Amino acid sequence: MVKIHRISVSPPLINSSCAWASELHELEDLYKSTYTGAVTTRTATLLGFAEDSTHTVAFSKDSASSINSYGYSPHPLATYLDWIQTIIQNDPTSSKPFIISITSSSPNTLSSMISSIQTLRTTLRDAEGSHSRIAIELNTSCPNIADCPPPAYNFPSLAPLLSVLAEHYWKDPTLTLGLKLPPYVWSTQFEDVIHGISELPANHAASRDVTEGRMNPIAFLTCTNTLGSSLFFSDQTEHNHESTLSTCQFALPTAIGGLAGESIHALSLGNVHTFTQLLAGQPTLQDVKIIGVGGVTSPEALDRMRKVGASVVGCATLLGKEGMGAFKRLSVGRQD
Ligand SMILES: Cc1cc2nc3c(=O)[nH]c(=O)nc-3n(C[C@H](O)[C@H](O)[C@H](O)COP(=O)(O)O)c2cc1C
Repeated sequence: MVKIHRISVSPPLINSSCAWASELHELEDLYKSTYTGAVTTRTATLLGFAEDSTHTVAFSKDSASSINSYGYSPHPLATYLDWIQTIIQNDPTSSKPFIISITSSSPNTLSSMISSIQTLRTTLRDAEGSHSRIAIELNTSCPNIADCPPPAYNFPSLAPLLSVLAEHYWKDPTLTLGLKLPPYVWSTQFEDVIHGISELPANHAASRDVTEGRMNPIAFLTCTNTLGSSLFFSDQTEHNHESTLSTCQFALPTAIGGLAGESIHALSLGNVHTFTQLLAGQPTLQDVKIIGVGGVTSPEALDRMRKVGASVVGCATLLGKEGMGAFKRLSVGRQD
């Protein structure tokens, strides 16, 4: 069992936010599985994302890798909150949490989304007792949104969103908050994130009054999201996945999209390793946990994630390829 601020994740294996955690029946399956210790929802926006046939996924025929052009869930946040309320109220003695993935580039919109999650937490009395059933993951790293680069690649645009998270945390230190980060490739990208997070307590006078809870609002980092601007030819994919809208031979109608699975495993491991080292060097951030994601397609890959510092491990591509059996396969030989 791994405790991330107030949520308990047991076993420490989860789905990461993805298109296969979008519908009620998918969330119910993920929730019921004894091989998953938490359920992460597909990223929701306030009003829902306008999905069309340019948003799709293809799988490599040579490795357990995927490429996708999806944006965010077509369902608005309110729909996920209704579903989650029902699931939790039907199973009140469980401690299995939901990690609600949300995003917005507007601080005001983000704040109202967090307020609606807090309203649900109040209804569920989620701040009481020894653990919570709800955490929030801010997705800062989707590479597929036209004209909206991932804020985590441009720290000045991430900082106001972090401030919103911090404001909500200082009002209610029982809130468990995390960031979904992209794959970074040079040192100052990692250092900017660490610096920005470590500055959050100092930036807020209320932090001096917090007697309960963590000193830093951010309880976890989920590393990594997909690697944007990637391209598969259709003859590299299973079922020769050729875009119907495209006149060319690429697997995605958009040509480029986010690469995931085995193809990014080395980069994701490097990101988890680097953040583990940097967090260990910051006294105020030593209890920030890492959810390791990226190319976890075998028990060996899961072990590698644990060895570089992931407390909890997640997968998306393997879930898409194999369905719920993915988690049983990853759990072979595990005791936790
Ligand atoms: C089809 C698909 C949809 C995804 N949608 C989301 C999403 O809505 N939000 C998010 O934070 N990450 C999303 N991801 C990224 C995954 O959570 C994960 O970070 C990435 O795919 C790497 O993990 P993997 O190698 O196990 O696939 C998506 C990935 C895939 C393949």
